[in-house]
Amino acid sequence: MPFTHNRFFKNHPRLITAAEGAYYTLSDGRRVFDALSGLWCCPLGHSPRAIVEAVQQQVAKLDFSPSFQMGHPAAFHLAERITTLAKREGDKVFLVNSGSEAVDTALKIAVAYHRARGEASRTRIIGRERAYHGVGMGGISVGGIPANRKMFAPLMIPGVDHLPHTFEPSKMGYSRGQPEWGLHLADELERLVALHDASNIAAVIVEPMQGSTGVIVPPKGYLQRLREICTRHGILLIFDEVITGFGRLGTPFAADFFAVRPDMITFAKAVNNAAVPLGGVIVDQAIHDAFMTGPDHLIEFFHGYTYSGHPLAVAAAHAALDLLPTALPHAASLSPVLEDCVHSLRGEPLVTDIRNLGLAAAIDVAPVPGMPALRAFQVFEQALQRGLMLRFTGETLAMAPPFISTIDEIKEMTETLREALRATAALG
Ligand SMILES: Cc1ncc(COP(=O)(O)O)c(C=O)c1O
Repeated sequence: MPFTHNRFFKNHPRLITAAEGAYYTLSDGRRVFDALSGLWCCPLGHSPRAIVEAVQQQVAKLDFSPSFQMGHPAAFHLAERITTLAKREGDKVFLVNSGSEAVDTALKIAVAYHRARGEASRTRIIGRERAYHGVGMGGISVGGIPANRKMFAPLMIPGVDHLPHTFEPSKMGYSRGQPEWGLHLADELERLVALHDASNIAAVIVEPMQGSTGVIVPPKGYLQRLREICTRHGILLIFDEVITGFGRLGTPFAADFFAVRPDMITFAKAVNNAAVPLGGVIVDQAIHDAFMTGPDHLIEFFHGYTYSGHPLAVAAAHAALDLLPTALPHAASLSPVLEDCVHSLRGEPLVTDIRNLGLAAAIDVAPVPGMPALRAFQVFEQALQRGLMLRFTGETLAMAPPFISTIDEIKEMTETLREALRATAALG
């Protein structure tokens, strides 16, 4: 099973049999609140009628269309809708099937772009510690989660370096929104540029907000500073918006929230509310145009997937984009509610930090001595017994409730978590 304690799970299975709105149904019949919108990917709630019907109609009309040397109109229309939403008219979209594929695609575009422009030495990619960019060879290479990397070192792409992560609880503990401390960490990019020389660096890739490693919020000014440094040195800036794209921060993209224009944006998950796998890369028009050389009957970019732009995934995305204009302002209005709720857990047993941005939050809990990663799992189990499904990783519990949640559901989620924390502490 993906990222699962297989042996424990087989002895204690946790099975989901149905979903509706903001709730899952477990195999024993219990309804639980889906506090992470699936895996950050179902912000519109489960099985909204419009998405269900769009997929049903599409499978009857055009189930599959070859993605190589052929196309179908809805995919092109989707690309236009996505660039319009991102206020990047004229830019292009390359469709894939997951966040991992989006990241590997963006890295390939970056390196190939510089080569196409005659700067073939620009191959190095800069990632960041604690980053999660999926599990492709490119993604784990630029990613910064040691456990995802250590077994695969010989397979990783060479020529990668990492910025330091920005999480320092002693300086930013219990931050509400963006921390004041940490802007200087962006200047580490200048140090890496001095070390490797800009002429060898293709791109910098960062999650604007690090989601999977526990809602690590960028310090004020940090992303703007990265943008300035990249621009100064001709380095492409890639935002991995697989989690933040399509509204998680209350704006269509994190690029809007932070008012930073990256050269590429990777997305997946919420683009179509996860009804059918879909991801993609928004690519600056100038990058696209650099590939458009040579005889026009030849392929310009040797890359793509059988299921790129799959008609069912695209149909789901159109339906999701129809729902987003209503869902997004509601999500934005819930952000301060979530902030106040989660920070009310300060002082509860085991809690060592709380942070939030947009409609996302995380709390850290004190580890069980000598048993790393056990405590958050215990809290997860206590919460699940009480009707709340959180996400646990390491010593962190994350929440990213569906945009369709009510204020009362956010409050109830918080109170259930409070009970779960107290019950876990009572276990000793
Ligand atoms: C920022 C980011 N990039 C990439 C991925 C990988 O996406 P997938 O699991 O769809 O391959 C994730 C998944 O959580 C992610 O959070």
